[in-house]
Parts: sequence; structure tokens; C-alpha cells
Amino acid sequence: MRKGLIQATPSAARLTRSLRDIGYDFVGAVADIVDNSIAAEASEIAIEIEYAGDESYVLIADNGLGMTGVEANEALRFGTRRSYDSGDLGRYGLGLKTASLSQARALTLVTRSAMRARCVRRTLDLNVVERYDDWVITEAPRDDAVRRAEALLGSSPGTVVIWQNLDRVLPSSGATGGWAKRRFETLTKKTRSHLSMVFHRFLEGENGAQRISVSVNGDKLEPWDPFVRHEVATQTMASQEFELEHSDGVGTVVLSRFILPGKRTFSTREAFEAAAGPLNWNRQQGLYIYRENRLVQWGSWAGTRGIDEHTKLARASLDFGNELDSVFNINVAKMRVAIPSQLKQMLERPVSELCILADHTYRRQNAEPEVVDAEREAITDRKTPDKAGSGSSAELGLALKSAAIQAGHYEALKAIIGLVRQQNPGVADALGFTS
Ligand SMILES: Nc1ncnc2c1ncn2[C@@H]1O[C@H](COP(=O)(O)OP(=O)(O)O)[C@@H](O)[C@H]1O
Ligand SMILES: [Mg+2]
Repeated sequence: MRKGLIQATPSAARLTRSLRDIGYDFVGAVADIVDNSIAAEASEIAIEIEYAGDESYVLIADNGLGMTGVEANEALRFGTRRSYDSGDLGRYGLGLKTASLSQARALTLVTRSAMRARCVRRTLDLNVVERYDDWVITEAPRDDAVRRAEALLGSSPGTVVIWQNLDRVLPSSGATGGWAKRRFETLTKKTRSHLSMVFHRFLEGENGAQRISVSVNGDKLEPWDPFVRHEVATQTMASQEFELEHSDGVGTVVLSRFILPGKRTFSTREAFEAAAGPLNWNRQQGLYIYRENRLVQWGSWAGTRGIDEHTKLARASLDFGNELDSVFNINVAKMRVAIPSQLKQMLERPVSELCILADHTYRRQNAEPEVVDAEREAITDRKTPDKAGSGSSAELGLALKSAAIQAGHYEALKAIIGLVRQQNPGVADALGFTS
């Protein structure tokens, strides 16, 4: 050691314990493992959440590039050494370890690279780390879970991540009770809806995302599109781009805005209910923030405005690439970003326009059922209403507002409305121009 430097190696036992609590929940932890499978070019991912009392395990298998023994050792090291390309979902070299240990005391890799015929098995076990108070891993014993992993790999390359000794999922007492089993069932259901949402672009293979297929306990996941773009009554507003500076250049952020149909204009009741999403209508409104096509944050307007019943039909996507990680301050668990204040300002107007339109759509649904019914017929027939004047003049007013917003001239329309109200108050009233 260099003169003047004093060694201060951290305690492995104590540090691993604290690293378990950096903010993952079960579904977020599974999603972080899936990120690694995507980064390893997998096209198929199979998740098994197997309840078996104390022997319960979670297994995430992929058909990606796999790892050699040396690579598997490196992967289990906190702060894996590697460089990141653009498009990469990784960041800190921590996710595999921190996500897994947030739920389980033992993490095993069963993996085979394309260059080797043999599988390697490596375990990072907190009991072992604590016993030796050192950063050590071991060769995994071939138990039921490992045998299941080997069967899933067959003779192809790929990786299986196994979580065992699930102390954060099952209570140490009562792991065998009915309560524990129900908890597993709930988690399995939550995992399905969470992954269908955060990886919907990958499941669809859209927007340049590599196409993946994911199953949970044998059920294949369908993508859950927050913007229900396949519904005919969904309104799409013009998308916008913003430039943000980062340490070595400029990155682009893309905003796309949607007004979802109200309950009455959805094609079916089931479609309406499915669109509610895991948090339900009110809390699923807002900005859906994607990093490299992977959804990292949703369920609020990210500080630009509050959640409101009247704007629950408004949802917008905001896309950024990993070159902007430092600007968005992405955290390790990839469950929180901070919108830079510069961007927050730029978003204010387009978001408020979106919310005005969403508010109109929402109120119209409630206030004028017969108008909505006529409209719905028109939409489902993919025709415009044939009778002139079938909409009220208030409808006309809304249509004008909506067109002005979409054309980017809402401020101009507001000035016009002000004049109409002065000069022809009756006309303004009839058009519903009250404010
Ligand atoms: N499913 C997998 N297939 C192939 N390699 C993997 C897989 N999971 C993890 N790795 C390797 O382990 C490394 C560490 O993963 P992780 O701790 O999640 O950090 P990060 O994803 O930020 O690099 C990855 O960079 C990758 O090289
Ligand atoms: Mg990772």
C-alpha cells in the first residue's frame, strides 16, 4: 500500500445487509433481472414463482448470451466492471445483486455461454458472506431449483437467476401456512401486470425495442399499452421534442400525448376495465417516463401538476436515452427519476393543453350522454355524423378549443374568445366559452 494511505475495507457482512434496502419491491426486483436478460439479447424469458414452503424459489430464465465461469464470477461482484453502450438497460453494475438480495438471502446463477458446452453454477449467499465477513461466492449445490434451471436451459446458451431463502417474501415463521401461499399467488399476479406494463414496448416489439416473449408460471404476457392506441376513440395529440444538455452533448426527449376514451366510448367494458391499469384510473394518469423503451416511472405528472379526477383520461409518454441518465438522476432500482427543472418548464404548456382536452372529454362523458352515444356510434361506424347540427353548439365550442390546442394556437383562441365574449356574450355562452 502507498505510504500515507490507510486500508479501510468495508465489512462485507454489514454492507450487504444495508444494500438489501435500497428501495426495491418484489415486482421491481424481478423487472431489474429481466433488464439484464434483455441486455443479454434474450428473446424468451420464463419466470417461475414456485411456492414450496421454506424451499420456495423464484427463477428467471432467459435464452440470451449466457456467461462463462469467469463472467459469472464478475457478474456476482458488487460493481461489475464493464462499459455501457447506448441502448443498454444496465448502469451501475449492481442490479443483479441488490435486486435479488432485496428479496432473497441466496442468489444463484446457472448459465451457459455460446462458447462452452458446460453449465456453470455460482451462488452469492448472505449466510456465507456473513459467516466469513468477506465478499465470497461458492459453487452452487445441485438442488431441485438448480436441476429445474438446467432443464430450462437444455443444451442452449442462456442464464437462469434463482432466488432462494426468500426471507423478505415469506416470514421466517409460518412459511408453510395458507397465508404464505396466498402471498405467493398475489405476487405472481402483480408480477404479471407489472411486467406487462413496464416492458410493453418489448412485448410488442415496437419503437425499435427488441421483441421479447415473457411467461410467468407458464402464462404468456400480453403487452399492456397505457395509451390504448388500438381503441378507435383514443385521441392522439401532436408529439413534441425537447433538447437537453448533458456533460458531453445534447440529448433529445420526446413527449407524446393521448386522451383516452371515457367509459362510454370504449369499445367494450372489458377494454375499459383493462385500461384502468394496476393503480386504477386516477393514479394511472400522467407522464409515463421511458428510459431506452423501458418504463421507469408513472402514476403522476412528475411535479408539473397534481393528480385530478377530471384529468384522469390524460396520459403521455416521455422518452429519454441512457445518455441523459445523469440529467434525469436515475436511481439504482430504476424506480425513480427526477425531471430536470429546465424540462419541467418546457413541459408545462403541452401538459396543460393535454389536461384541458382530457377534462373536456371527461365532462362531456358525464354531462351529455346522448351526445356521447351519437358520437360513439359515429366512431364505431368510422363515419362522421351525417345530420348537420347533430352536435350542440357547446360541442362546436369544444371542437374549436380542441383544434386550436392541436394546431398550437390555443393562446390565440383565448384572445378571440375574450373578444367574442365582449361583443356577443350570447354567442360566447352558446359556445360554452365561459372562461
Ligand atoms: N441474464 C444475463 N445474461 C448474461 N449476462 C448477465 C445476465 N445478468 C447479468 N449479467 C452480467 O452481469 C453483469 C452485472 O449485472 P448487474 O448487476 O445487473 O449490473 P448492470 O446491469 O448495471 O451491468 C451485467 O453487466 C452482465 O454482464
Ligand atoms: Mg442490470
